[in-house]
Amino acid sequence: MRTQIAIIGAGPAGLFLSLLLDRLGIQSVILELHTRQYIEGRVRAGLLEHNTVQLMHELGVGDRLKRQGLEHGGIELRFNNRGHRIDFRELASGKCVTIYAQHEVIKDLVAARLAANKPMLFETANLQLHAIDSTSPYVTFQHNAPGQKSTERLDCDFIAGCDGFHGVSRTSIPQGVLTTYERDYPFGWLGILAQAPPSSHELIYAHHDRGFALLSMRSPQVSRLYLQCAPDENLALWPDDRIWHELQKRLATHDGWKLTEGPIIQKGVTGMRSFVVEPMQYGRLCLAGDSAHIVPPTGAKGLNLAVADVRVLAVALGAYYSTGTTDLLAQYSATCLRRVWKVQRFSWWMTQLLHRFPDDNPFDHRRQLAELDYVTTSRAASQTLAENYVGLPLP
Ligand code: FAD
Ligand code: DHB
Repeated sequence: MRTQIAIIGAGPAGLFLSLLLDRLGIQSVILELHTRQYIEGRVRAGLLEHNTVQLMHELGVGDRLKRQGLEHGGIELRFNNRGHRIDFRELASGKCVTIYAQHEVIKDLVAARLAANKPMLFETANLQLHAIDSTSPYVTFQHNAPGQKSTERLDCDFIAGCDGFHGVSRTSIPQGVLTTYERDYPFGWLGILAQAPPSSHELIYAHHDRGFALLSMRSPQVSRLYLQCAPDENLALWPDDRIWHELQKRLATHDGWKLTEGPIIQKGVTGMRSFVVEPMQYGRLCLAGDSAHIVPPTGAKGLNLAVADVRVLAVALGAYYSTGTTDLLAQYSATCLRRVWKVQRFSWWMTQLLHRFPDDNPFDHRRQLAELDYVTTSRAASQTLAENYVGLPLP
């Protein structure tokens, strides 16, 4: 097989890139490790920045998003058992964010790709990248098409490494090329989906002595909630009653606000880390999304940052194929990293503001409360939060 761009991974980065390239008349093949059913059912992010929503509409994949997405013009920061609203529409030039599950985005993008009859292979195994420092890179893999398990070869001009944190693209770059910047956090999130109408129209980020809690949602019938927990928390120790009890405590207010409970339909624990590799490219391989960087989820940025990367990559590839210029491609990593580091800063800032750290002392606790008080009373500080949360302008 031969194509212009081999895209490794059908997550948000890979799928958005394929649609952006299509629009420019650039061919691509997507190679995905898992089944279609698996990637369309994986419960993950849920919050789309203004820019991501706009892009879905521009690419003609926004119909369900328009019908089912929940637009939010603000969030609540809750501390000392009181709520304080940050009004995005007022503070961030009328912009807002939209709740729409990541796996629904994946369904919309996969459907568009298949409807356009463009190549996408699921269940590719033993995928390897070759000759990435030459002008003729290629990918080998096994593909379990019915009755066949031979090694296939895909020749291409460029490889887009969109295969997430655990993928093979980043690790195909020779030792010594990449510099890694990282920070682990001494906690994780226990997330649930519950068949319970959301107890608030907007998200609630709660600071509490017992640890952070977040109320989010997926639809008018389904709530999505998270609790700060140990990074390796054992879910077996968290029967439904204990989860609700803890959420009730951390989200409680002085004014009689009620958290509605319901049957828990999904549970999971996620670790938290900040991670960046530099540069995000080597030879003819460009990394995009989680394969190059991870943010802690507190700012809801991972998916949105993956989309921002592939927008830069698509423009650079578009310039290469239309005029032969390589300047934008050469600048790919530097252009992305300016945004990546701002988003890393914001995600770290939200995380340190709202979580309990095991070595916190009473000074740290008072400092967090003072910062929350400042953020919710100073227009300058709340505007800083709002403009980062809805999404910084694109380059
Ligand atoms: P991925 O989504 O990881 O996609 C990579 C794809 O590559 C996968 O389909 C994988 O199967 C495939 N792959 C892997 N290895 C191979 C291989 N060897 N060969 C072929 N294919 C391969 N982000 C937000 O923006 N907002 C949020 O609200 C938010 N909340 C989150 C909540 C949770 C609980 C979690 C876990 C994450 C959250 N995130 C959020 C982060 C977001 O989900 C990720 O940042 C996003 O999925 C990154 O997209 P990606 O395409 O780079 O990688
Ligand atoms: C959701 C996840 C986040 O990490 C966040 O900051 C806000 C919302 C969600 O899954 O709905």
